[in-house]
Amino acid sequence: MTQSGDFNIVPFVSVDNMMKLVLHLGPERVMTDLADYIEADFRRWESFDKTPRVASHSDVGVIELMPTSDGEMYGFKYVNGHPKNTREGLQTVTAFGLLAEVDTGYPILLTEMTILTALRTAAMSALAAKHLAPRGATTMAMIGNGAQAEFQALAFKAICGVTHLRLYDVDSVATRKCETNLAGSGLNLTACANAEEAMEGAEIITTCTADKQLATILTDNMVGSGVHINAVGGDCPGKTELHRDILLRSSIFVEYPPQTRIEGEIQQLDRNHPVTELWQVITGRAMGRTDARQITLFDSVGFAIEDFSALRYIHDQLQVLPYSEPLDMIADPDDPRDLYGMLLRAKAKAA
Ligand SMILES: NC(=O)c1ccc[n+]([C@@H]2O[C@H](COP(=O)([O-])OP(=O)(O)OC[C@H]3O[C@@H](n4cnc5c(N)ncnc54)[C@H](O)[C@@H]3O)[C@@H](O)[C@H]2O)c1
Repeated sequence: MTQSGDFNIVPFVSVDNMMKLVLHLGPERVMTDLADYIEADFRRWESFDKTPRVASHSDVGVIELMPTSDGEMYGFKYVNGHPKNTREGLQTVTAFGLLAEVDTGYPILLTEMTILTALRTAAMSALAAKHLAPRGATTMAMIGNGAQAEFQALAFKAICGVTHLRLYDVDSVATRKCETNLAGSGLNLTACANAEEAMEGAEIITTCTADKQLATILTDNMVGSGVHINAVGGDCPGKTELHRDILLRSSIFVEYPPQTRIEGEIQQLDRNHPVTELWQVITGRAMGRTDARQITLFDSVGFAIEDFSALRYIHDQLQVLPYSEPLDMIADPDDPRDLYGMLLRAKAKAA
């Protein structure tokens, strides 16, 4: 299962190599592939270890570990969320992750996951919308035009057939950045003066803002019937985007309820408020959208299985693509029990 057969050498995908891999395949193809990998793993949901992510909160942000295993491979992601970071020239979200073989416990991949998280989050959003959005939806409002935004836009184009994107951000510089980056993508772009304007004619509404508070990006009167809401930015206790009344009118779909009840929009609701697990829709055990006037809401927080799928995808790509470097990461004494002797021999060699 390892790339080289040298168990002490772990393939490492740097940011530079991740960019090369994504540019080689094309971002839309990568996100379409990732959606397929996530869908395949959601179909075998019951074979995974599942736990809400382990979160370490501070006044300014959160640092999280997201582990899971399918019994054959184990993966985890380290990820942060610091909305104030952009004001300091740093990103809100950065990440890296590791995939290991359960049989030996040895790692088989270490990779940057800042870019990969943006790709997998967008792939997940589009996969959910494929199952929930109104049939034939072509217009999406994109509220919050930061680091994740272009990925979301291109995933919805590639996977859901979105052709028109209506952009809004409190900071018009972010919207202009999005317009520039998406020029030539084939998407028809409209910059809007406020969230209401962005939502005009949109069948899909994506909220992807960053603010460590119970924000109200959308109020109840802004949301008409029949739309699909892809709520990405509310993903921490005390950090939401939608007014509670919208939730009460919506059919709510989630990744893993024990985590989403802590972190998602539904933290605003009673603990027993009914939600549908997306894997059950994907496997046909639960209904997705049942009528044209229904408001469907994907209360996205990001779950470990999606990162596992992304790690699995990158690992598979590295079997045929050269975008990794060997990392001397695992000590490898000739006699496995002589770890200290290996240190002594290194000392003797250096002397
Ligand atoms: N659900 C998931 O799986 C997942 C994955 C990655 C990131 N996220 C979350 O998505 C959000 C966006 O991430 P990012 O990396 O793009 O952050 P970012 O800081 O790069 O961008 C956020 C944008 O939101 C804008 N914004 C803030 N308040 C707004 C408001 N009231 N109305 C309109 N725009 C507003 C900011 O100006 C900024 O441009 C974050 O909250 C992050 O934690 C969720």
